[in-house]
Amino acid sequence: MLHLPRECPLSDEARVSSRIVLFGGSGDLSIRMLFPSLYLLDRDRHLPAGLSIVAAARAIPETGVFCESLRETIGSNPHVKGIDGDVWQRFASRVSTVHIELERIDDYSALAERSGAGGNDATLYYLAISPRLYGAVCHHLKTAGLIGPHSRVVLEKPIGYDIHTSREINRSVATALEEDAIFRVDHYLGKETVQNLLALRFANSLLEPLWNRNGIDHVQITIAETVGVEGRWSYYDESGALRDMVQNHMLQLLCLVAMEPPIELESHAVRDEKVKVLRALRPINAAEVRQKSVRGQYAAGAIDGKPVVGYCEESGGKASNCESFVALRAEIDNWRWRGVPFYLRTGKRMPKRYTEIFIQFRDVPHSIFPTPPGSGLAANKLIIRLQPEEEITLWIMNKVPGLTSEGTRLQALPLNLSRATAFQNYRRGIAYERLILDALHANRTLFVRRDEGEAAWAWVDRIIAGWEAAGMTPQSYSAGSWGPSSAFALTERFGHTWHEA
Ligand code: BG6
Repeated sequence: MLHLPRECPLSDEARVSSRIVLFGGSGDLSIRMLFPSLYLLDRDRHLPAGLSIVAAARAIPETGVFCESLRETIGSNPHVKGIDGDVWQRFASRVSTVHIELERIDDYSALAERSGAGGNDATLYYLAISPRLYGAVCHHLKTAGLIGPHSRVVLEKPIGYDIHTSREINRSVATALEEDAIFRVDHYLGKETVQNLLALRFANSLLEPLWNRNGIDHVQITIAETVGVEGRWSYYDESGALRDMVQNHMLQLLCLVAMEPPIELESHAVRDEKVKVLRALRPINAAEVRQKSVRGQYAAGAIDGKPVVGYCEESGGKASNCESFVALRAEIDNWRWRGVPFYLRTGKRMPKRYTEIFIQFRDVPHSIFPTPPGSGLAANKLIIRLQPEEEITLWIMNKVPGLTSEGTRLQALPLNLSRATAFQNYRRGIAYERLILDALHANRTLFVRRDEGEAAWAWVDRIIAGWEAAGMTPQSYSAGSWGPSSAFALTERFGHTWHEA
């Protein structure tokens, strides 16, 4: 069994957090993801015995009322499937609420008083609030004496809008906390299959000799969503698919596929290797942005046979130049990957929800099989599916049994490893369970380091500058389709085809 390292050994009581202060404790992320994750961690006996959870927000009811409504929302969470009375009692006794105006410094002394937090304990401050307040909150925590050598802060994305704003946020947070105390969340890194990618690559010797430009023809990473912008129009319209999905989740997946084997599984070693990949990404500049990228925006269409409105109608008809779909051809300039395209594609209102990494190996150098038409050799493919199922499939060539006078009939067949089948008692968790647990134990491996985030912004910013210089606006695609036709041309131009699940 693969265990990610505990940089802080469990026995090191001083460094295992005994308190979480959840800023934005009554907000959407806290209610939908963080509290259900904490409940599940408690149910599975992963939370430290004395851990207290303080929900801090401007509009938050007193503890009893808050817990009552929490019980209902956690109980109806699809991952939880009903509340266990005893577990709930233990969990609810950990929770309290505190009213706070985030920009009012006096409120932080009140927070200290109500929550018992102090500078000498290992409190974990979870900032599920607007990133524009990250700097101010950290500064106020420090001024109020609430930051000490064991304090930690968890930051949600987006950290900035481009490299400048990202640096500004990082700089202001760094005035209160050391880099090692800052945990930047990319929830994709909490997904089980994403971590399994490390096991697949570095716990097996089978793939490594092929895992390079000699063995691999190209890589595709697709994150397709059927949902639209879901009432997040004002955030999303300033962001778009490139900033919302590529700068973080997709580049993290690309890094895990492309990075060199780290010397150990400690956070600094893994993150060093990821940064090298990001720095080796070839910039896509204005001269080639039309060839190597596609922007799309969904128009009205149908998903699962039900009509849905277009992107602009979702905001009452406001015009917008924001992309809800993006496809890119990325290249990595290093010895391992030179000449191997990494195609990235993500979009909202696609026909199906799925996330996968598709790896196409090279063709055999010479075929000895005289094959009948339509039954020729197909290159091997490795498909790592993250969503909706978690499975790994390797497609290999087989002889079709039976006699024929025309030659050998060949067919590609899958070798399949489904997590649900392989691990019968496996409960598919919420990505945040893993991330919260690691933050409590000060394990940084699955969090994004400052230089990593900034290197990703640097690459993405060049594309955005290219779009602006080339006057590239999004092309329309019907909701329920696989994006604009130019997305197909993007791969076909280079002799490749998107793999569709
Ligand atoms: C978020 C994006 O980071 O990831 C959303 O802001 C997107 O726009 C979501 O829908 C996708 O996450 P998942 O885990 O559902 O694939």
